[in-house]
Amino acid sequence: MARRKKVYEGKAKILYEGPEPGTLVQYFKDDATAFNAQKKDVIEGKGVLNNRLSEFFMTGLAQIGVPTHFLKRLNMREQLIRSVEIIPLEIIVRNIAAGTLSTRLGLEEGTALPRPIVEFCLKDDSLGDPLVAEEHIIAFGWASQQDLDDMVALALRVNDFMSGCMMAVGIKLVDFKIEVGRVWEGDYQRLILADEISPDSCRLWDVETGQKLDKDVFRRDLGNLADAYTEVARRLGVLPSNVTHATKPTLIN
Ligand code: TYD
Repeated sequence: MARRKKVYEGKAKILYEGPEPGTLVQYFKDDATAFNAQKKDVIEGKGVLNNRLSEFFMTGLAQIGVPTHFLKRLNMREQLIRSVEIIPLEIIVRNIAAGTLSTRLGLEEGTALPRPIVEFCLKDDSLGDPLVAEEHIIAFGWASQQDLDDMVALALRVNDFMSGCMMAVGIKLVDFKIEVGRVWEGDYQRLILADEISPDSCRLWDVETGQKLDKDVFRRDLGNLADAYTEVARRLGVLPSNVTHATKPTLIN
């Protein structure tokens, strides 16, 4: 079989040409990066966990009518997705103050916000993904007013779904990031959820203990990242049967 053509390689995923026009294969790597890739490591098993978790969330979202790029999981690290025209924005939804919101506004981490707050950052690593206002988005043509309305509505639906999923297993959804893409259906276009939803792009805190179960474990050197993601997958009942990051084979007597 001919080697697949690589279409794009990012920090945590690779996209290959898919088997049919309009499709891509999304491969989840074990690479972890933070602070605009200044901190890097390979976390064995992370890609497998994120492939499963993203499948779980996207499938659930599709079941409640949220359109997504996910078509099917192909294997441990790969999923078939619809090819989309990515909107160059990171859409962040926050329920509890943390990270850059806390720094920017001097809010103590953990402060519950009066309502979910939706923010946009420009997807541009060379600028460090700066926060942008709707005014910039419209003026520079990164998205239209209609796209913005659709993105906010979609992001809030994802927030409701994800918050519920997480609360059911004793986890608070503090904040998360999504990306959306444009697809064309005949003469019509619409925005669908793209990229991934995984603990790489969410903040997840245990309800009882406040323990962090997301990429902050890596960013802030709080322990083993794969253990944290495994815990999320285990609680949600999506842990793959024969993986994760077992270090050495253990002899069973
Ligand atoms: P934020 O607090 O703005 O930034 P940081 O993670 O650098 O402290 O991030 C809010 C949420 O969005 C958090 O869960 C991480 C996620 N996020 C990404 O996954 N990728 C990004 O490029 C950005 C800007 C945020």
